[in-house]
Amino acid sequence: NWTMRDFIDLQIAEIRETVGDKRVLLGLSGGVDSSVVAVLLHKAIGDQLTAVFVDHGLLRKNEATQVMTSLQGKFGVNIVQVDASDRFLGELAGVTNPESKRKIIGKEFIDVFSEEARKLDGVEFLAQGTLYTDVIESGTDTAQTIKSHHNVGGLPDDLQFKLIEPLNKLFKDEVRELGEQLGMPHDLVWRQPFPGPGLAIRVIGEVTPARLSLVRESDAILRDEFAKAGLDQTVWQYFTALPGIRSVGVMGDGRTYDEAIVVRAVTSIDGMTAEFAEIPWAVLGEVSAKIVNEVPGVNRVLYDITGKPPATIEYE
Ligand code: XMP
Repeated sequence: NWTMRDFIDLQIAEIRETVGDKRVLLGLSGGVDSSVVAVLLHKAIGDQLTAVFVDHGLLRKNEATQVMTSLQGKFGVNIVQVDASDRFLGELAGVTNPESKRKIIGKEFIDVFSEEARKLDGVEFLAQGTLYTDVIESGTDTAQTIKSHHNVGGLPDDLQFKLIEPLNKLFKDEVRELGEQLGMPHDLVWRQPFPGPGLAIRVIGEVTPARLSLVRESDAILRDEFAKAGLDQTVWQYFTALPGIRSVGVMGDGRTYDEAIVVRAVTSIDGMTAEFAEIPWAVLGEVSAKIVNEVPGVNRVLYDITGKPPATIEYE
């Protein structure tokens, strides 16, 4: 596509001119937008870009490795990976209120990111994956809340940078096209949305390593089965959650009293409204059988058949 190639050339020239010989910092979330910015900037200024990838321990199975392999391994982006799982889980211990969980994660994220940023010398610019939709929606509370975490809004006063936002005239589908044009892996470019607070808002109530693991393992099974059935191409967002309901089951000769896992799968255009996805029974059956067989501590699988509104897509 010639227009997108032109766009890339223009952006690269513009970024080089703006940045000169200075250094640029980028907060990498593993999502499409920041990943595309990482690759574009790397093309323009190489190692003058440092991307900081904060692993809060609330990512999906193998996600951190995938991000590192594709962006650092394949493209050579200079990434500082920070494993901050213990910190985040420590702060989250005993916390059950959804808003408190989100606030803690947001604050901790800024803290960890700031600490890393202070270790770097001569950074003059901060790159962000702000989209056109973020620009026109900014000012509305939802957009602020949704983006504030990923886009590292609210950095402390000693860390003020000039902003570089190369995607701020693009819509999501154009960002994906740009990613494809830059040669990024299909999986990364067509990723389903994933919330900044990660799996923490899919573990209803307290986030503990054991409870996180139930969601992480069941989610990996769901994603696997959806990919096998080709549903990953058609369903807008799909994941599992832990509602915290224990119920009686039977296993062999004995009774169990274990957790339930909820499967959520929705179709949507922009996440503002959504319908539950009509998944073939056979696929749901397979997902359920695999989850109860392979995830110890789960004896029941439920499918959420609520739209948004009145429900939200996530659980907290
Ligand atoms: P809800 O649950 O509000 O979600 O219906 C709508 C869409 O937004 C995503 N979401 C978030 N994304 N940070 C994000 O980057 C967040 O805090 C957040 N909360 C929800 C959600 O996954 C869905 O796609």
